[in-house]
Amino acid sequence: MAGLPRSLLLPIIFTSIGLIILFSLYQSTHHIPSAEFTSSNNPIKAPIARFAPQNFTLLIKVLAFNRLDSLSRCLNSLSSANYGGDTVHLHIHIDHFALTNESLNVIDKKLEESRKVLNFVDGFDWKFGNKVVHYRTNNVGLQAQWLEAWWPSSDHEFSFIVEDDVEVSPLFYKFVRGLIVNYYYNVSNFSPFIYGASLQRPRFVPGKHGNKIQLDSETHLFLYQLVGTWGQILFPKPWKEFRLWYDLHKSKGIKPLLDGMVTNGWYKRIGERIWTPWFIKFIHSRGYFNIYTNFQHERALSVSHRDAGVNYGKTAGPDSQLLDGSSLDFNLLEMQPLSNLKWYDYCFREVLPGRVGRTLDEVGSILRTVQEDQSVLLVNIFGASDTITRNMLCHFERLNIRNYILIGPGSDFLFDLARRGHPVIDADQFFNYHRAQKVMGFQHSSAELMKNILVNAYVIKKCLENGYDSLIVDANMLVLSKVQEFIDPANDFYAGKSLGFFFVKSSSSAQEIWAGLLKKVAVTKGNVLFQGENTDFVYLVKLLEQNGVRIHRVDEASVGIQIHADTSNQSSLEAGKKMAYWFAGTGVDLIQKRLQELSLWVVDGDSSCSAVVCHQS
Ligand SMILES: *[C@@H]1O[C@H](CO)[C@@H](O)[C@H](O)[C@H]1NC(C)=O
Ligand SMILES: *[C@@H]1O[C@H](CO)[C@@H](O)[C@H](O)[C@H]1NC(C)=O
Ligand SMILES: *[C@@H]1O[C@H](CO)[C@@H](O)[C@H](O)[C@H]1NC(C)=O
Ligand SMILES: *[C@@H]1O[C@H](CO)[C@@H](O)[C@H](O)[C@H]1NC(C)=O
Repeated sequence: MAGLPRSLLLPIIFTSIGLIILFSLYQSTHHIPSAEFTSSNNPIKAPIARFAPQNFTLLIKVLAFNRLDSLSRCLNSLSSANYGGDTVHLHIHIDHFALTNESLNVIDKKLEESRKVLNFVDGFDWKFGNKVVHYRTNNVGLQAQWLEAWWPSSDHEFSFIVEDDVEVSPLFYKFVRGLIVNYYYNVSNFSPFIYGASLQRPRFVPGKHGNKIQLDSETHLFLYQLVGTWGQILFPKPWKEFRLWYDLHKSKGIKPLLDGMVTNGWYKRIGERIWTPWFIKFIHSRGYFNIYTNFQHERALSVSHRDAGVNYGKTAGPDSQLLDGSSLDFNLLEMQPLSNLKWYDYCFREVLPGRVGRTLDEVGSILRTVQEDQSVLLVNIFGASDTITRNMLCHFERLNIRNYILIGPGSDFLFDLARRGHPVIDADQFFNYHRAQKVMGFQHSSAELMKNILVNAYVIKKCLENGYDSLIVDANMLVLSKVQEFIDPANDFYAGKSLGFFFVKSSSSAQEIWAGLLKKVAVTKGNVLFQGENTDFVYLVKLLEQNGVRIHRVDEASVGIQIHADTSNQSSLEAGKKMAYWFAGTGVDLIQKRLQELSLWVVDGDSSCSAVVCHQS
């Protein structure tokens, strides 16, 4: 081993977009509880259309109220669409006007309006399947109109929900059918995390201070978390799951609050009259996505005319142009494999799902996608509570810490995090792969003990080779500052006194020392040399010191805040603290309680972040 680090340590430091869209999500005047079906056809038992390669049923759900002209334009556009001989059912849900204390004149006028709407609907000829009319007895509002519009009767039933001032393109069905065949029935393009498809033009970013929607003209399809309310296709399983989630939350009085979202303000103002805050919150907690189109020139397969109604003072006019046969200048049915599509969150920031490192090479490419200022934060989550880990990730979002990688056992939890866009290293596969390759020099099973140690050792080596500084912590260390704030210009290695963290500066001397260390680790052949908790980098630090490498050690308490059981003198979080930490064995409930007191607990009852925090990218 060569090279001696020096000492000395740096002192430690530590709108208005939405007004129109507000109406799109909050629009309309449909309002719900009891119901009556005026059709003899039961949609549940309706014959299933015959499709290649798979059978599925599409139900078109039109949500209407008292706007006859809008409804007639909507229904006419639906019946002008090309269904290619498929059976498609039409369900029209007509909300009632509110029964308030009004003059008889006004009530007569409203009754007359309702009768006109019903007469029109009754006379409306639907040639493609069943027509079912559902006329409410009282005003139920938009939330119930949407939520009660559909309970999927099978995993092969889809619904297309359109509000009455929407108009669709004659091409819409052709596209929807292609989309369902490609992204639902083709297993290589299927993802259970896609909840549907929006046919409206993407235009709204609900995360405050989020990015502008910018897509290149080659991108016809992409994935975005936000629901569209002007022509939304819903897939059965996620919708059913949402309904159950809504039930649970609504029944227990849990509100769908999500800080940092424009929709949060709407919910606070208009509450249960709208449904979107519920759905948006659900999608956020599950990490689901919606398919969107990007057809350029403000074209879309469905547009809203934003007609005057209870919520519109006056007509705002169509928000986009309908894409029809005459303006079609590309192949509508050309659908890219799912793996080629881009994913965007509520901030319209690109999400990179599926970054799982199983080999050194894969880790190398992940490192390049995450590094920031030539540095990387490695977090060991072996044995950590899932909620604690999620809380940590929510902090990273708040603090705009994006250069982290989680290292843990290959569990469902780890893979779900990767699926949601968090880069991870599957320590089990990594170890097995490299042991099989004999890169690590271990063949026997006692090496199992060394798994976490070795994964850390090799990942740090990779960081050094790439010229990245690395900060390594366990999940009991909640990092509150950027990795670069840990840098100690005078030392290659810098660690906490109780080894809560370990910082490795990228330098040729550190690289040389590290290479020597790996040889030493190989010589030990899995014999654990040190007592106590030596499951990961702690072992490496001790081994370095045993071999005479100088490591700058600093008391964690001087740079961070400790969470401990003694409630009497819990200090408050002073500015400049770089971390909150606790020792192994501290109960999760206690940690949560303390972190709550310090305002460092930022997950909700669903174990998802209580806020969306956008940073311009
Ligand atoms: C599709 O439906 C037809 C008629 O109901 C049935 O005979 C056929 O087996 C179904 N095919 C599939 C793949 O479910
Ligand atoms: C409804 O109108 C009646 C008669 O004008 C009045 O007595 C009553 O207070 C009104 N109720 C409400 C809720 O305004
Ligand atoms: C399924 O999707 C893959 C990838 O897009 C494609 O190569 C394949 O042809 C599709 N299969 C069918 C039956 O369309
Ligand atoms: C609480 O305060 C006492 C007296 O200042 C100190 O001795 C003790 O170590 C503190 N406890 C913890 C856990 O910091």
